[in-house]
This record gives sequence, structure tokens and C-alpha cells, in this order.
Amino acid sequence: MSNAQCSLPILNKQILPSPVYRGNAPLPTSVNTLNLTLQSLTQKHLSALVELDQACFGGLWTIDAYQREIDSPNSTLLGLISPLSHIGLLAMGCFWSILEEAHITILAVHPQYQRQGLGQALLFSLLKTAHECGLERATLEVRASNLGATTLYQKFGFKTAGRRRGYYKDNGEDALILWLGDIQEPQFSQTLETWQQITDERLKLSGWLFTCS
Ligand SMILES: CC(C)(COP(=O)(O)OP(=O)(O)OC[C@H]1O[C@@H](n2cnc3c(N)ncnc32)[C@H](O)[C@@H]1OP(=O)(O)O)[C@@H](O)C(=O)NCCC(=O)NCCS
Repeated sequence: MSNAQCSLPILNKQILPSPVYRGNAPLPTSVNTLNLTLQSLTQKHLSALVELDQACFGGLWTIDAYQREIDSPNSTLLGLISPLSHIGLLAMGCFWSILEEAHITILAVHPQYQRQGLGQALLFSLLKTAHECGLERATLEVRASNLGATTLYQKFGFKTAGRRRGYYKDNGEDALILWLGDIQEPQFSQTLETWQQITDERLKLSGWLFTCS
């Protein structure tokens, strides 16, 4: 099982079932609530992983690739699940532990649930887990044209350190190489607390109702 030695940050919220309510109007009081839970993904999530991959990337990783992530002791694969949603897996994120580095290999939110703070919540959870695993920095590659993802990573302090020219085979697009350092420095614990607040506020602004477990 992946990341067995790492404790997961707690993210167990009560949320509105509507994926589109954005909180500009007063929050309704009579809406049923759903739990949004952060989980370490396992064999039982395989088909949901492939479905989410298809919805977000049009088939980036195969079912065998996800199986390898689940089996690998160096891979941490997290997901956000809302049990009553018709979508099995709302978001997923993965990093590989390589020496003292967290290599974030995938981050995706189902298109119906984007721009509601879930990507942010998941990135926060990946970085918190990496911190708890003793890793010292995080890195990832992102398409140069992917402004949404790049904005999200920059918001969390990632800096562009380089560019791989023609990295993506489908269209020859460049990859930006992003790094976030110092995640074992003492001040990073404070940074995590700040991000927790920002993450919670973003979910509220999106209209999600939640309570901390
Ligand atoms: C990138 C992705 C994971 C972001 O997830 P998300 O749940 O939509 O993002 P959030 O709602 O948490 O956004 C948090 C912040 O990131 C930034 N952001 C996210 N998407 C953005 C977009 N499309 N345009 C501009 N900024 C964006 C904003 O600063 C946003 O805060 P705000 O909504 O308060 O302005 C999601 O769009 C996705 O899955 N895309 C397809 C797969 C992909 O490209 N993955 C990244 C591969 S490296």
C-alpha cells in the first residue's frame, strides 16, 4: 500500500452536494450535505481513477499505470471523494518520494468540480503529506500553456526553475519545471497552517458547507 508510513492530513468536511453553487447568494439552509473526504487511494478506486483521468486528460495513464502507483511504496496517491456524488472520484493527486524530494506526477479535479477549491485542497494535502514524510522540497512539470495549474502552483510558492523544450510528445509543447523548497524548515509548519486557512476559506467561498471533524 502506498505511503503507509505517512499520516494523512485530516480533511473531512461537510459540503453542499451542488458542484456549481459559488456562494454569491446567501447559503441555503435546507440543502442535504455530503462528506468530502481525503483518502489514500487503493485497488478499489482503480476504475474511478481511470474515469477521472479520462475526464481530465483524455487518457493520460492506463489502468496498469495506476495499479503501479497503488503498489509502489514510493508513491503517494490521494483522492477527494464525496460518497453520494455520482462521480466516484472528484480529484486525485500523486507524488513520488525520490531521495528527499516529492515529485508531483499528477493533479486533477473532475471538470464538473473545478474552480471550487478542490485542487487547492488536494495540493495542500500532498504538500502536507510530503512534509510529514520528511521530504525537503517538491517539484513538478507543467505544460507552459496551462495557466490555471501554473497559477495554482505559484499561489503555493512554487517557482519556475527551468524549461524542457518540446517535452510533451502530443504537440511538442514545452514543460515548465517548478520547485518549492524548504518544506522541512521550521517556518513551513506555519505556512501549512496559513494554507489550511486559505484552503478552508476557498471552499466556503465556493459555497461548500463544512465542519472540521
Ligand atoms: C489545475 C486544476 C487541478 C485546478 O483545480 P481546481 O480545483 O479547478 O482549482 P481551485 O479551484 O482549487 O483553484 C485554486 C486557485 O488556483 C488558480 N486557478 C485554478 N484554476 C485556474 C484557472 N483555470 N485559471 C486561472 N487560475 C486558476 C486560482 O488562483 C484559484 O483560486 P481562485 O479560484 O480563488 O481564483 C484543474 O483545473 C484540473 O484538474 N485541470 C486539468 C488537469 C490539469 O491540468 N492538471 C494539472 C497538471 S500539472
